[in-house]
Amino acid sequence: MSTVHIYDHPLIQHKLSIIRDKNTSVKEFRESVSEISSLMCYEATRDLETEEIDIETPVGPAKVRQLAGKKLAIVPILRAGLGMVDGIISLIPSAKVGHIGLYRDPETLEPVEYYCKMPPDIANRDVFIVDPMLATGGSASAAITFIKKRYGCTRIRLLNLIAAPEGIARIQEDHPDVDIYVAAVDEKLNDHGYIVPGLGDAGDRIFGTK
Ligand code: PRP
Ligand code: URA
Repeated sequence: MSTVHIYDHPLIQHKLSIIRDKNTSVKEFRESVSEISSLMCYEATRDLETEEIDIETPVGPAKVRQLAGKKLAIVPILRAGLGMVDGIISLIPSAKVGHIGLYRDPETLEPVEYYCKMPPDIANRDVFIVDPMLATGGSASAAITFIKKRYGCTRIRLLNLIAAPEGIARIQEDHPDVDIYVAAVDEKLNDHGYIVPGLGDAGDRIFGTK
């Protein structure tokens, strides 16, 4: 069973309160999504491997630790996942970014793929799939299935800002090997598959399309 990590750090909760507010501007929404993504990335990378190396400080030799092990790939689910990328690569500039385009069919709520471009060596990377919302879990589950089957990825984590219990259950059922990192787990989904209370349509709020 995958583990669900809930990051209820006060800074994350404060910024989450900003993006939940329907009166928040597009600019502040986008900036806050990026900041929360950085803070969550900081926590979610706590277990990355490091190795000891020798360097010279201006005062003398020192043994220091640098990142080792597999390299990272960030995979935003388009569109809304794009809003999380800058905040993450500001901390990990060497990460490669793959894109997967999925939208939810408004009738069936099933994900439909429309774009995919991954780094060629993605199978050898630790992959962070990012999307602000985990609602039914259909989009994230399809994205994970896709990169497992087409690219052979084996080390995958899922980062979301807000999740519904239904979405978490779906990922745990479909992908028990994938850990989930969220800032909040909300009450439920409504009849249109929106998270309640959630924050509305993340893509529209990041890009100002409604
Ligand atoms: C939203 C969101 C997720 C998906 C979550 O995207 O960003 O990708 O819905 O819902 P699910 O867990 O039920 O699949 P949307 O389909 O609205 O597309 P957009 O990012 O282009 O706005
Ligand atoms: N997608 C969103 O953008 N918001 C939701 O609440 C559910 C799916």
